[in-house]
Amino acid sequence: MTGKSTSASSASASSGGNPDFLWRSGEMVEWEKATVHISDLAWSAISAVFEGVRAYWNAQEQQLYIFHLDAHLKRLFQSMKIMRMTSPFSKDELTEAFIQLLKANDCRGDTYLQPLAYFGGGVPGYMAVLERPGEIVITTRSAASGLDEPKVVHCNISSWSRITDNVMPPRAKAITNYQNSRYVSTESRVNGYDFGIILNPDGKVSEAAYACIFLIRDGVAITPPLSAGILESITREALKDLLTNEMNVPVIERDVDRTELYLADEVFICGTAVELQSVGSVDRYKVGDGEQGPVVARLRELFRDVVRGVDPKRAGWRTPVY
Ligand SMILES: Cc1ncc(COP(=O)(O)O)c(C=O)c1O
Repeated sequence: MTGKSTSASSASASSGGNPDFLWRSGEMVEWEKATVHISDLAWSAISAVFEGVRAYWNAQEQQLYIFHLDAHLKRLFQSMKIMRMTSPFSKDELTEAFIQLLKANDCRGDTYLQPLAYFGGGVPGYMAVLERPGEIVITTRSAASGLDEPKVVHCNISSWSRITDNVMPPRAKAITNYQNSRYVSTESRVNGYDFGIILNPDGKVSEAAYACIFLIRDGVAITPPLSAGILESITREALKDLLTNEMNVPVIERDVDRTELYLADEVFICGTAVELQSVGSVDRYKVGDGEQGPVVARLRELFRDVVRGVDPKRAGWRTPVY
């Protein structure tokens, strides 16, 4: 492929590897000056929601493409709505903020962006806050894509259960939901696994700690439904499209039993952070031959070329920065 990342995002030496600027409620703020009062700690996070967004560098075009920015902003607004938090900024204003921040930090390499919306001003986070505007902060950091190489991870079925819609709705990308992911991934690490796969209280597969999951069995891709306690993943939707329309692999959304993972031909996890990674084993049951399988191999290449704009199709998925 031609659009491989060749340079890292810039970061000034004086800021110890941090970018020069972040965007904070309408202003470009120098990284070191973007502070909050100590009394804002802890409770401001309780209703905070966020997004993880990737931008991919296309070296040939000298262009940076933000992947599915519209979908991420839509989901950010959905998460804010669930928190009864209003946005002082429109989707167009935030799109412009993303672009201006990437330019201000002279990002010319694969970059991870994180918009965070929270109630500032020292409101105790456990108290009811109704329809108040949130503060919005966007940060950038250099994050090379792993899509050029196959990656195989080993997973366990976690002894922790997935949070549920009536407890802490997983479809809100809320900071506090990640306590569930943290218990799961800590258990995995302690026991020598890379990732934990979480069952919902019905005993069905929901997702991995920070990613959605698919299995391939007899030429069909199967993934748990949105009602299984998963985040409404943007990568999952993109991969469903590529599987169906580029690879002619049917995709079914239905409940999945853990033993189906043991017997699958291929299993993979996907998400903005992990991108696309093969699962080589689940609970030490080898999946397929334990390596990246043929469906994941092809899907990874297709996805890599689309996100970087090496494949010109699906231009609507990419927001150019320069
Ligand atoms: C819990 C969880 N599930 C799924 C995903 C995948 O979602 P997306 O593809 O929108 O990044 C993520 C984020 O990467 C996540 O944190």
